[in-house]
Amino acid sequence: MVKFGFETEEINEGKARIIVPKTRRGKGPGKKEAFPFYNPVMEVNRDVSILVVQKLVEKGGSRILDGLSGTGIRGIRLALEVEGGLSVLLNDWNEDSFELMLENIKKNGVNNAEARQEDLNQLLSKGTFDYVDVDPFGTPVQFVDKALKAVDDGGCLAITATDTAALAGSYPGACRRKYDAEPMQTRTRHEVGLRILIGHCARCAADHGIGIHPLVSHSSDHYYRTYMKVTGGKSDQELGYLLKDPDTLETHLDVTKRSDVSSAGPLWIGRIWDPDFLRELRPRSYMSSKTSKLLDTIKAESTIDEPYYSSDEMASRLKVHTPSLASILESLRDNGYSASLTHFDPKGFRTDAPLESILSVFQAD
Ligand SMILES: C[S@@+](CC[C@H](N)C(=O)[O-])C[C@H]1O[C@@H](n2cnc3c(N)ncnc32)[C@H](O)[C@@H]1O
Repeated sequence: MVKFGFETEEINEGKARIIVPKTRRGKGPGKKEAFPFYNPVMEVNRDVSILVVQKLVEKGGSRILDGLSGTGIRGIRLALEVEGGLSVLLNDWNEDSFELMLENIKKNGVNNAEARQEDLNQLLSKGTFDYVDVDPFGTPVQFVDKALKAVDDGGCLAITATDTAALAGSYPGACRRKYDAEPMQTRTRHEVGLRILIGHCARCAADHGIGIHPLVSHSSDHYYRTYMKVTGGKSDQELGYLLKDPDTLETHLDVTKRSDVSSAGPLWIGRIWDPDFLRELRPRSYMSSKTSKLLDTIKAESTIDEPYYSSDEMASRLKVHTPSLASILESLRDNGYSASLTHFDPKGFRTDAPLESILSVFQAD
């Protein structure tokens, strides 16, 4: 085996066996980041990408780019686990990453994967793909433009953002600067943040006369992730604002701002999931149980278009004890409304019921 200038170990994830640096990424100020980068927490993120790319390949896609590959783990898993004819290009500009990707490709015996060591934006300018994966540290904004243009009509762009503190309103200045949008520091801020990310991609797409259609989106651990079908030609720009009345907590999505309530945006006000596409995603037995749990919750909430509520926030405003989520959902459904849990928040729920009906559920408890 090649000797690297850092200590290595081998890990298993999915069907791959991958050599990774032994020193994990340091946490806290002054800690050195280990390169090449590998984060075991992102397993769910990678599992979902396998399922999405599988569907894409079944629909005729074949050219896959893992643009910021690190150790190569995602691209190698795609090459090993997705069935059908696909070719995977792994890319990372870091020298150690490149060497490690080559070694990991060899180790896993994949003959449909190749490695490159280029600046992602340069690589994206040279050709097109059916699937482009952009999984950076922090914000993806510097790659969005070129990545959108490098996806062929009907293909898919997958984007991760780990700058959730900016998107979710802890650093509003950073959100304005990077995403040209106003976040909202509220209990339901992660849906706002994810919608700002998708809205930003939609605005970039519109600048190039193309459209996006979100297929799967999630907020997990320290990151947001979205998979968008990229469509050539004009498509609906579902852009607007999330409005939240600070007194009643009533929240909705609208194309215009209002001065009497708090607003965040511009952001994506359309569906952040495609329920039909989601229904076809079936986690595999060897995948993390967290992946099935996440997808089950998302499938249930994907057909309810209203933003979610926090049960704790609602109870504290009404000065009542927080009812159990099971009883909230049951009462709303008994009253003829749709209601589900939300993956955004273990204390959250999503419903199409009007505010009065939600309030009466809390007050009746
Ligand atoms: C978060 S890591 C990728 C993790 C990987 N996708 C995974 O699942 O383990 C981000 C990687 O992007 C690489 N990178 C950052 N900017 C780049 C650029 N402009 N072009 C190519 N690679 C870049 C870094 O070297 C780093 O390895």
